[in-house]
Amino acid sequence: MNYSEAKEKLEKYGQQQLLRFYDELSEEEAQALLAEINKIDFSVLEGKEKDISTSVFTPLKALTAEEIEKRKDSFFEKGIEAIRQGKLACVLLAGGQGTRLGFDGPKGTLNVGVTKELYLFEMLINNAKEVAAKAGCAFPIYIMTSEKNNAATVRFFNEHNFFGYDKNMIHFFIQEMSPATDYDHKVYLEGKGHVSLSPNGNGGWYRSLRLNGLYDDIKAQGIEWFNVFGVDNGLQKVADPYFLGAVLESGDDLGAKVIKKAFPTEGLGVICYRDGKPSIVEYYDLTDEMLEAKDENGELAYNFGVILNYLFNIEALEKIAGENLPLHIVKKKIPHLDEAGNLIKPEEPNGYKYETLVLDMIEMMDNCLVYEVIREKEFAPIKNLHGVDSLDSARELYAKNNIEL
Ligand code: UTP
Repeated sequence: MNYSEAKEKLEKYGQQQLLRFYDELSEEEAQALLAEINKIDFSVLEGKEKDISTSVFTPLKALTAEEIEKRKDSFFEKGIEAIRQGKLACVLLAGGQGTRLGFDGPKGTLNVGVTKELYLFEMLINNAKEVAAKAGCAFPIYIMTSEKNNAATVRFFNEHNFFGYDKNMIHFFIQEMSPATDYDHKVYLEGKGHVSLSPNGNGGWYRSLRLNGLYDDIKAQGIEWFNVFGVDNGLQKVADPYFLGAVLESGDDLGAKVIKKAFPTEGLGVICYRDGKPSIVEYYDLTDEMLEAKDENGELAYNFGVILNYLFNIEALEKIAGENLPLHIVKKKIPHLDEAGNLIKPEEPNGYKYETLVLDMIEMMDNCLVYEVIREKEFAPIKNLHGVDSLDSARELYAKNNIEL
């Protein structure tokens, strides 16, 4: 792309400010900037946010922990057999920037140990190794990174010898980036020759897996299910055979692990039906009526929150591959150049990032097995350093689960 083509593209989207310092760039820097502009999909800034104003919500029942306990042997047999047959792959979402934690590195490289080293990635791989030992074989793990943290992540795994997992079974793929803007939706520059870009949210995993050329191999291996989960929950059960077996028995295309909310307004996405399709509604979108609604047993009807651990059937995903996910426009702190070219590192949010989220893939599917797990055993997310969902609270939960720190 040459200068006039770049200018034309930017004018179409009202983003000419990105060429503000063009004249000050060396030939090489100028070429790099033009290449960046060429690659960026500015149409993402015009994407639609989800509109739930006219939606009708109804409760969606969960398979409760109690029922699971009764049927667990049968679930285990089915799940472990499917893993043995190579039908399951994991997708570990590790492309986020962990801005709330303020840790300078990929979140999975966070040392959560106290008297010894123990990394989040290591905990997840240990969990995978437990299942692999029961199945008698390893299963593939696809790790989504971003352009910002891919090199550091791959280096970390190599330095730690993949924590003893079969390294041929671990694959990395890089998610797409989207531009970050000010509150007027004008894209920021993060350097005179660099557009401010950030990972496009965890909803991009399926598209990115395909764009990275890994999909043909996945199909050729006969993989039928993806277990998708986040990086920040060290108690996460990876490739949980009970969960897989339950979903297989249900005949559903999708499984979502959930926990009982601690209190009605807890900040978890709540699983329910929206206009007859399984869906996740953000806690702040729950109406008073939904917060108070009870089921026939007197329990809260909208009582289960998701923990970012899903099973997706591949064939069902293929049917929705061309559909667009709604956009989440989120206020964030975005380092950028001011008009004079000075780098500003804001203390408070100063603009928007544009993300799609895996939770919006739920309502693209026709059915979903809602699978209840026990919070204290499986949910210790690290979003912050201290307080709620923090390194401190996670360490307490690890200790309760007898994990040596
Ligand atoms: P979060 O929503 O907690 O985002 O991600 P984050 O980037 O880790 O943290 P904050 O919001 O900046 O503090 C939930 C999961 O989704 C992954 C994260 O790595 C985490 O496992 N994720 C998030 C991606 O893989 N890509 C993204 O673009 C965003």
